[in-house]
Amino acid sequence: MLVAARNLRKTFRSGGLFRRGAGVLALDDVSFSLAEGESLGVVGESGSGKSTLLRTILRLTPYDAGSVTFDGAEIAAMDRGALRRFRQRVQPVFQNPYSTFNPRFSVGASIALGFELLGNVDKADIPGEVARLLDDVGLDPDLASALPHQLSGGQRQRAAIARALAVKPDLLLLDEPTSALDVSVQAQVLNLFKDLQGRYAFSLMLVTHDLPVVTFMCDNVLVMKSGAIVERGETGTLVRDPESDYTRKLVSSAV
Ligand SMILES: Nc1ncnc2c1ncn2[C@@H]1O[C@H](COP(=O)(O)OP(=O)(O)O)[C@@H](O)[C@H]1O
Ligand SMILES: [Mg+2]
Repeated sequence: MLVAARNLRKTFRSGGLFRRGAGVLALDDVSFSLAEGESLGVVGESGSGKSTLLRTILRLTPYDAGSVTFDGAEIAAMDRGALRRFRQRVQPVFQNPYSTFNPRFSVGASIALGFELLGNVDKADIPGEVARLLDDVGLDPDLASALPHQLSGGQRQRAAIARALAVKPDLLLLDEPTSALDVSVQAQVLNLFKDLQGRYAFSLMLVTHDLPVVTFMCDNVLVMKSGAIVERGETGTLVRDPESDYTRKLVSSAV
């Protein structure tokens, strides 16, 4: 298994030092695994814990109990070297691509950082590699010299994808990657992910409140409610024949 999570728990404590609120149980005994080459969707209403799960796997949010392994290694126990390699092999793409770019760097310079980090491309060849990558994500290579704010939302998300792919990741973790985009652009970006997955061969975990996005993109799906996984299965089967009322509601509100 590429990713295996066992009995994950996360509570966000509310209140100040002397106020002991019960807190929010954002992850409630969550277990799942993701095989190499798999595309796994995570769907659920707002506040169900999807983003927390993704951030936990990225080692951006520490968990209270349980374990997460990536390629067999517990992520909480990684030393600096292992963590650096993990940060290269697992790439996030968030809803708002602004956050992934330094506003003062050209788009090309931000993507070039990935190649510099990996160190497997001669310095002189990096501009050509950046241009090839921009072309791969459907952007004009001339946009390498543009600043992030000069791109449209859809272009910026494509650039964020290029930046993620520059380090040749094994796993892409996508959190509502099209929710901030115009409806007309959403399908284009989803098609791009599919196309790139064929060419770059990464595994994929995609978090969204939007079930049709999962139906289009993912082999398998986890359904989350109040921090817990209420249902899981092959996407087509689950959509055709949901087991829980909650999933049935998600399915019916999506059509
Ligand atoms: N940093 C945080 N501090 C406090 N509470 C949080 C934090 N992040 C998320 N939560 C709470 O945890 C729950 C799950 O949130 P989240 O994972 O963002 O859900 P989703 O992505 O499914 O909308 C929500 O109740 C949310 O308010
Ligand atoms: Mg979220």
